[in-house]
Amino acid sequence: MKIGIVGATGAVGRQMIKSLEERKIDVSELRLFASPRSLGTKINCFGEDVGVQVVEDGCFKGLDYVLGAVEADLSEKYAADIVKSGAVFVDNSKAFRMDPNVPLVVPEINGEDAKHNNGIISNPNCSTIITCMAVYPIAKLSPIKKMIASTYQAVSGAGMHGITELEEEIAALAEGRDFTPKTFTKQIAYNCIPLISSLTENGYSGEEMKMQNEGRKIMHLPDLNVTCTCVRVPVFRSHAISVSLQCEDPLTLDEVFNAYKDFPGVKLTEDGFPTPLETSDQDTVFVGRIRKDLVFDGGVALWCCGDQIRKGAASNAVQIIEYLTK
Ligand code: A2P
Repeated sequence: MKIGIVGATGAVGRQMIKSLEERKIDVSELRLFASPRSLGTKINCFGEDVGVQVVEDGCFKGLDYVLGAVEADLSEKYAADIVKSGAVFVDNSKAFRMDPNVPLVVPEINGEDAKHNNGIISNPNCSTIITCMAVYPIAKLSPIKKMIASTYQAVSGAGMHGITELEEEIAALAEGRDFTPKTFTKQIAYNCIPLISSLTENGYSGEEMKMQNEGRKIMHLPDLNVTCTCVRVPVFRSHAISVSLQCEDPLTLDEVFNAYKDFPGVKLTEDGFPTPLETSDQDTVFVGRIRKDLVFDGGVALWCCGDQIRKGAASNAVQIIEYLTK
């Protein structure tokens, strides 16, 4: 298989290379693309150093799949060329996620949707993927009607710059130096920022509305209502989400625990509460603190954690290719 990665030098792009290697995807050619800043950079892929290229006319020719790990404006700019060249574009940005002609896919949940693509498949928002993985086993028992979610999102969600900003702030504070936040709106070290992306007309941020809108599309639950609060926390790469939900039918806790038994990619944590540090750098989503919700009749409350760069982005995208080529 011939695969391209656009944004190969970023946090998600680099993990895409690792996920292709780990999942033993049969890659006969890997083309890496980034900005002109990275021209000449070499990245080791499958044991060989591969040089980073810039995107130019005809550069996607002959590829079977292109993985996108760039911002939405660049995905929009490159998509037509990728599709015209005959490759399928698996895009991690928000550019096409809500387009009715583009499947939005978490392979364990709606992998079949990926087969009905017109050349573009979207990879969902990171905290939405992790939350859907955690609640979908319950949705299979009875459709979820309502959900309240609060996210605790790692700085990796803002890419390499998010990771370096937290590192640099911690170092500056330790040395008594001044610093000015650039990637985040306020200091993130030793702090929480309850606004990710900008506010929309209803007072919720774009990031918060993804949980409802993308969640509906992934889980095939068009009537799902979600109230979400997204918070950036000083954690490097695993997102955590607190969820309260109510399904059409009341559920017992036994039914809920049993629902996780055979569901791939999700594990109940043995000690009952996964943390971001313990769940980092792996593809599994972990669930704990399952209990009866005290507000929603017959509802359930839970806590989940998953690596933002892996299952929340790169590994999910690679799994889409894996699913389509199985
Ligand atoms: P570069 O490293 O050359 O800037 P992150 O979200 O982790 O910051 O990663 C963003 C990715 O998008 C990087 O690989 C970055 O490359 C890439 N990128 C930025 N601008 C362009 C562009 N014009 N064309 C292709 N890739 C780009």
